[in-house]
Amino acid sequence: MKAATDVYHCTVIQRYGAQVSLTARLGNGTEVWNDANVGDDVYSGENCVIGSSVYIGKGSCLGHDVHIQHGAFLPNNTIVEDEVFIGPNATLCDDKFPVVNNFDYRAQPPILRKRCSIGAGAVILPGVEIGEGALVGAGAVVTKNVPPSAIVVGNPAKEI
Ligand SMILES: CC(C)(COP(=O)(O)OP(=O)(O)OC[C@H]1O[C@@H](n2cnc3c(N)ncnc32)[C@H](O)[C@@H]1OP(=O)(O)O)[C@@H](O)C(=O)NCCC(=O)NCCS
Repeated sequence: MKAATDVYHCTVIQRYGAQVSLTARLGNGTEVWNDANVGDDVYSGENCVIGSSVYIGKGSCLGHDVHIQHGAFLPNNTIVEDEVFIGPNATLCDDKFPVVNNFDYRAQPPILRKRCSIGAGAVILPGVEIGEGALVGAGAVVTKNVPPSAIVVGNPAKEI
């Protein structure tokens, strides 16, 4: 991924109500839509679209031309490579056994490889890797790594 310039020295289009951390670094041409929340130290490449009400946890890293639609949730330190599409209300998880005050919590954010697409409302479980060019169907619950170019649907998601 090419280096992005600081959020204040590049063309970032930020809509009303978006919360972008002062330590986020977003690439030229990236758009941040209404009420999106971009955490500390998030990095994006150029020409990304961060849709309305999207949440991007701190330390996450997006490549170039990543499009994230309304309401998607990305936990801290998620890795999203170039040209990935994330559909509306998709949820990426990083905590396999979520419990309040769990001091053994070990975050396992998913990894989305180049040009993969995540369908609307899909849930990607912790530590799962979605392979290059793979497609996750709308509403799928993905429990295992998805090979490159595969199409998976259902709960638990299976290749079709
Ligand atoms: C996965 C997907 C690409 C499959 O499309 P397709 O190859 O044209 O597949 P078909 O519609 O011919 O369906 C093939 C089978 O898979 C099933 N299927 C398709 N999509 C499914 C899904 N998301 N979840 C569960 N089953 C699905 C169909 O019911 C069909 O089953 P059958 O053979 O028993 O009748 C598509 O359905 C999908 O979910 N796309 C994502 C859309 C989306 O979220 N866009 C976001 C922006 S709006």
